[in-house]
Amino acid sequence: HLLLEKELPETEVIVVSNREPYIHNRINGETVLQIPASGLVAALEPVMRACGGTWIAHGSGSADRETVDANDRVAVPPAAPAYALRRVWLSEEEQNGYYYGFANEGLWPLCHISFVRPTFREGDWRTYENVNARFADAIAEESKGRDPIVLVQDYHFALLPRLLRKRLPRATILMFWHIPWPNAETFSICPWKEDIIDGLLGSDVLGFHTQFHCNNFMETVDRFIESRIDRERASVTLGGHETIVRPYPISIEWPPAALASQKPVAECRKAVRERFDIGQDAMLGVGVERFDYTKGVLDRLRGVDELLTRHSEWKNRFVFIQAAAPTRSKLETYQGLQEEALALAAEINEKHGGKPIRLVIRHHEPDEVFELFRASDVCVVSSLHDGMNLVAKEFVAARDDEQGVLILSHFAGASRELAEALIVNPYDPHGFGEAMNEALTMPRDEQRARMRLMRALVRERNVYRWAGQMLLDASQLRRRQRVLDLI
Ligand code: F6P
Repeated sequence: HLLLEKELPETEVIVVSNREPYIHNRINGETVLQIPASGLVAALEPVMRACGGTWIAHGSGSADRETVDANDRVAVPPAAPAYALRRVWLSEEEQNGYYYGFANEGLWPLCHISFVRPTFREGDWRTYENVNARFADAIAEESKGRDPIVLVQDYHFALLPRLLRKRLPRATILMFWHIPWPNAETFSICPWKEDIIDGLLGSDVLGFHTQFHCNNFMETVDRFIESRIDRERASVTLGGHETIVRPYPISIEWPPAALASQKPVAECRKAVRERFDIGQDAMLGVGVERFDYTKGVLDRLRGVDELLTRHSEWKNRFVFIQAAAPTRSKLETYQGLQEEALALAAEINEKHGGKPIRLVIRHHEPDEVFELFRASDVCVVSSLHDGMNLVAKEFVAARDDEQGVLILSHFAGASRELAEALIVNPYDPHGFGEAMNEALTMPRDEQRARMRLMRALVRERNVYRWAGQMLLDASQLRRRQRVLDLI
């Protein structure tokens, strides 16, 4: 907030994303507020609470329409309003083409290289274009003739920076890509690759989680678009407009809001073990995610199987709770994953007895997730490919007792920062099982030493720093542009 006042005084901040930070649902005649399972929301919501402004997103809840004013706006968070949430309503056809189709059957598997074949359809692409244009109109309307600073989020809106630049030439546009960017050869699978790159290069700042993803993007631009690439400045100039392309590793708020209401670790351990009917002395592993094939849920279940097979001393002494939030359930790949995971969990439980795997398929609020983190001995993040993965950082933030071990996939961006985790290759069940054994037998002093370092890193590189660095870069560009405007 202070940074904004100093560097970008009297500038309207607008965030745009597909997913909204608060969803109102009608359940059994009551309006129930839900915070969605989304790394993007976990990161940006605290920033907006601090900065104020407007967040524009697709209104996805069954009771969302009842909460908005005549301009489709509602003040949030409901308990202590700090910014405005403006909902954009999409028809079922628009959601099918833009969200389920182009974004989640096309770009999502394309960028994650997780061996699900990307599907591109002309109709989905056209809808994606139209929805991007609808959001551009909504932003232009919100800007009320001023030159806002617009933070565009994620692969749902690759075309938006260019569309916005046409509508608001003096706006400062920051685009953040929350998922990986693959190499040029892989990206060339997309029939509309040039349009997507051109769309993104309408921004002033284009951010990825890691330097590796920035390099892949630069290589893709180099190969498919005629532009000027300045590797020293890390920028691309197209049609006279310069976009800087930099890594901004996303993070979480520190301390996380959900920690405030938590009971001491000993009480969390007891409560969770009672709730799941697990012996009080049993060791507990936990995994928390959206039920997405990129998260490697099947692989971690195989890791548990491997652990119990090779280290049978853990039978009846170790339980793994997997909290999995249903997501994109309209798509067959996601339905298939759920069925496969249920069958695999049943098979492993049958094989080893004592129900070592508990698969809980439902939405979990942040408070519940933090209680699980605090109750566990090990947290497993086994993404097959992930931009960052904020679950890993949330687990570390939840453990103010400096205990617990994080097992983290080498293929999650977070593994570049959280080097004191046990880093694993989720495709290798044997190595995975051994890492679980190592975690379960790790001395408390070693747990403390590793956890301290990871906590210090997340505390320092928190989400305010992530947003602050991007806003600082944007303010420098804005000043430079204002000088150029005078010449
Ligand atoms: O972080 C990647 C991301 O796709 C976000 O864009 C999104 O909010 C989150 O994962 C959850 O996915 P969805 O919004 O499709 O439920």
